[in-house]
Amino acid sequence: MAEIKRIAVLTSGGDAPGMNAAIRAVVRTSLAEGIDVFGITNGYEGLISGEIMPLSRRSVSNLLQRGGTFLKTSRCESFEHEAGRKRAADVLKEWNIDGLVVIGGDGSFHGAHALYLEQKTNVIGIPGTIDNDIYGTDLTIGYDTAVSTALDSIDKIRDTAASHNRLFIVEVMGRHAGFIALESGICGGAEEILVPETKKTMEDLGGLIKTWARTGKTSSLIVVAEGDELGNAHDIAKEIHTRFHIDCHVCVLGHTQRGGSPTSTDRLLASRLGYHSVLALKDGKTDIMVGWMNNAISYVPLPETWEKKKPLDEELLKIYRILSL
Ligand code: F6P
Repeated sequence: MAEIKRIAVLTSGGDAPGMNAAIRAVVRTSLAEGIDVFGITNGYEGLISGEIMPLSRRSVSNLLQRGGTFLKTSRCESFEHEAGRKRAADVLKEWNIDGLVVIGGDGSFHGAHALYLEQKTNVIGIPGTIDNDIYGTDLTIGYDTAVSTALDSIDKIRDTAASHNRLFIVEVMGRHAGFIALESGICGGAEEILVPETKKTMEDLGGLIKTWARTGKTSSLIVVAEGDELGNAHDIAKEIHTRFHIDCHVCVLGHTQRGGSPTSTDRLLASRLGYHSVLALKDGKTDIMVGWMNNAISYVPLPETWEKKKPLDEELLKIYRILSL
């Protein structure tokens, strides 16, 4: 690979707390390495339409602690087509960009990989999504903050559930993955956790509700990931009422989980991955994600990040029931 002299960075897909910290790390590491660095606004959409600007150390001042992404982000349909990616590569060539850092989730990585295959653009992915559903990294940027945000709400809902002797269903994000549900659920002492990775039935739920009553529980909390096969929180509450004649209160946490100031864990992860993404490009690495696994930096081919499935912690799936009874 030719020497890397100019790097561009963008954020893509759903925003995640810590993305700003990662951009800051990419910018300041690049400049320390004598590489010019450029920011692309609005994700792949901005790349296609040439929204590029040079970034300096001061462009990323006072950002470390902020949620969202100052470069803005998008879910870009035209990048799913070769014509869009060709246009993007042309823009990068016009600006003499030698390497692109993409901070995002699996959809963004699919796009980066296609850009590499078709247009030979050097790309490095940094995992940024609250879902934590990326293979090859123990944590994704934003996940730890999202779990803390969800847990904060779960603790508050628990107060009301206990005071009123109520059953609550709290819906957290995660279309295809139950990481947020499992971790916030176990930390919040949830009596049941419903995630897309495990198959449960309404009969299972009915049995559990009876057990809670038998063991003297006067209030309970079910945490459900939005992508669970039993439905969303409202569907499940309706079904519980129809089948078991129990009133169920629902709280959907939604996008509150995507915002807010990143935790120290997310800031640390973002700083590490941003730093190593620049060094990786400089070392001639491309078409990989820079992740964090077993307390060390990992370099994972981009297709592996979505082709291999990151499993939920089997032990946590087993013990939450024992601990909450
Ligand atoms: O991928 C992150 C995520 O927050 C998912 O958990 C959620 O299903 C989705 O994004 C929501 O996306 P949007 O903000 O585009 O509706």
